[in-house]
This record gives sequence, structure tokens and C-alpha cells, in this order.
Amino acid sequence: MPMRRVYMDANATTPLLPEVMEAMRPYFMERFGNASSVHSFGQQARSAVEQARVNVAALLHCRSAEIVFTSGGTESDNLALFGVTQPGDHILTTAIEHHAVLHAAGRLAQCGREVTLLPCDSNGVIHLDDLRRALRPNTRLISVMMANNETGAIQPVEAIGKIAAESGVLFHTDAVQAAAKLPIDVEAIGCHLLSISGHKMHAPQGTGVLFVRKDTKIDPLFYGGTHERQRRAGTENVAGIVGMGKAAEIARRSFNEGVSQRIAALRDRLEQEILARVDQAGVHGGDVAHGGAVARVPNTTNLWFDHLEGEALVIALDLKGLAISGGSACASGASEPSHVLTAMGISAARARASLRFSLSKLTTEEDVDFAIAVVPQAVAQMRELSPTYHLPQSTIPVAS
Ligand SMILES: Cc1ncc(COP(=O)(O)O)c(C=O)c1O
Repeated sequence: MPMRRVYMDANATTPLLPEVMEAMRPYFMERFGNASSVHSFGQQARSAVEQARVNVAALLHCRSAEIVFTSGGTESDNLALFGVTQPGDHILTTAIEHHAVLHAAGRLAQCGREVTLLPCDSNGVIHLDDLRRALRPNTRLISVMMANNETGAIQPVEAIGKIAAESGVLFHTDAVQAAAKLPIDVEAIGCHLLSISGHKMHAPQGTGVLFVRKDTKIDPLFYGGTHERQRRAGTENVAGIVGMGKAAEIARRSFNEGVSQRIAALRDRLEQEILARVDQAGVHGGDVAHGGAVARVPNTTNLWFDHLEGEALVIALDLKGLAISGGSACASGASEPSHVLTAMGISAARARASLRFSLSKLTTEEDVDFAIAVVPQAVAQMRELSPTYHLPQSTIPVAS
């Protein structure tokens, strides 16, 4: 019998839903036209792209002309940051952003922009007072993510949108980990720019969207044809865009079907039952057992298990059939503790002893039962080998 494999790494990527695959299929084969061509093959592709644009716009509550299709979250973030700032401008972002924002901001700092990274609290949330204090006369752009990819912590984006509006500053939010998990309304958020990524919401890898509010002047990253109203040159990835449109349509439907509540209930059970079975462990940023410290997206929990190496536990669990992540997927392989957990004031040892579980609408009760069975077992086995676990508490150099 093949080994049972349970996937709980949806914040890294998600599989296509069958409906998404079916919607895309013809655009690889018989409907292969270039959306810029005048003939009927081209028109067919164009109308599919425009229908997808309408569906994505409905998910974000914006106009379809404000949707720019990109190659993913990373490109959308880069387009936002590079596209609206000039040398001499100040960019206000946070220490807990994804590297797609952090490293873009780092590059911009080398290219004449001033960059400030806002801190977060021990729950991984940024504070409005810090943001207000950090504003400068030359602040051009605030970029704060809607939900964190490692902890799931939701940031106060609507309040930030108000501050941005009062200050006449552009506001970008990376909503890659929020899309299809939380309702998104760009009017309510008050953002000028918002990034999402297809593969985090059951559309294909290599697809993304940047919402660009009407009248927001943005320079493209690529030069070429006049695609995407001159905001993103290059022949459209028609099949991918169709997949993105279908995934957006399904996400909207899912909100009405209570899917988020079902996922949150699974996540909460997973978290509570693992913590009931493992000592010297806890939740980063949202301890449901203690009242729930911070609002999180419904699918994510990040747990720490002192006295072991998270990466080793990821491998041990993979051998048992459970796929999870030791931090953000993009950072795996690097031995540096997560920059997000570090920004929350978590010690390097505890950050390295942390695991992210991220569920999706495909996660079942049985999947959760499986994780509840294998995680405590793997933790106990690894702790047997831990040089610190058996020491009396007072001599253990970890706790923070
Ligand atoms: C918050 C966040 N932003 C941006 C990205 C990058 O998106 P993509 O993989 O589509 O380039 C990710 C991917 O993990 C993410 O979690």
C-alpha cells in the first residue's frame, strides 16, 4: 500500500482545483491564440483574459481596468515598489514582509530611496503609532502586508489606509497570503496597490495580479509591447490568467459557503490537540487555548517545540508522510532563523524550533487526525536525542 501523504503547506503552494484545470485546458491546445492577434484565435484568447480580469476584479472589489496580470506575487510586489518610487523618496515598510518586498526595498535603498522597516510586537503585528512616527515629508509609499505568511497574523491594513490617505502617501499591501482566505475590498482598505499570487489560491504557479488604483502613475518593470495598458509588457499567459480568473470565482463562492470557518475549525483543533499532547510548546501569535492573542488568517498556525531543530522535524515528519514547513518555503535550506520570528523577539533557538502548518480547503478531518497522531510522536522521538530536553528547566538556556 502506498504511504499516506498529508499536505499541510498551503502557504508555500496549493494544487490546482479540478475546475481550474478544466477551465485552463483548452487554452493550451485548441484555443492557443495570442491575445493581441486580430484574428478569431486572438479574439478568443482576448475575451478569456478579459473575463478573468472581471472575475479577479470582483474578488478584490475593484474595476477590471485596475487589474494587471503578472507572473506572481514577487513580480507584483516588485512592480509596486519600483513602479511608484523615485530616487529621493522614502519607503515605509515592515521587518516582517516577505522577501519579495524586503529585498526589493533593499535594492531600492541602494538606488537612492530611503527605506524604514517598522518593528512588530511579540504577536507579529505592527503598530499604528510606530507607523505615524516614521512618516517623513518625503514618504512616497507605505507597504504593509495584509497577512503574514509565517504566522498568519493579520495587519491593520484598513487603519493604515486611512493614515496613508490623511498623509497623501501611496499604500501598497501584499495580500498574497490573504487572498481567498479573507474577503478583500480595496475600497475598504484604501490601498493604491495590492498584490496577489495565483499558486497560493489553487491557480497555477507563475501567475499573479497587481491591483493598481485608477490614476496611480506606475512605471513598468519591463519594456516591450503595450500589454496590460502599458503597465506590464509581454504576451499574456492566457491559460494561467484563465486559471487565476477561475480560482478567483471559486474563492468568492467559497466565502459564501463557510469554507473559511471550516478551515479555521480544523486549524484550531490541530493546534489545541497537538499542544495538549506536547509539553514545552506553544503558538506564535495566536494561542487559541489562551483566548487567541491575535487575529490570523484561518488556515495558518506556527508552533514552537523547544529543544529541537525545526528543519530536522520537517524531515522526520516528511518521512512519516506529513508535509509542513519550518518557516517560509523560500527561506528553507537557509540556517538563519526566520526574520519574522526574530522581529517578534523570539530567541534564535525557539525560532529554529518552530514549524508552520498551513491548511487549505482540501484539508480533511482525517488529515488533521493524522497530524495530531504523528507530530507528538515525532517531537518525542527527536527530543530523546536532544541534549537540553532532559536538563532541569532552570539550566536550559532557551526560553524567551
Ligand atoms: C506574503 C508573500 N508575498 C509574496 C510571495 C511571493 O509570491 P510568488 O511565489 O507568487 O512569487 C509569497 C510567497 O510565499 C508570500 O507568502
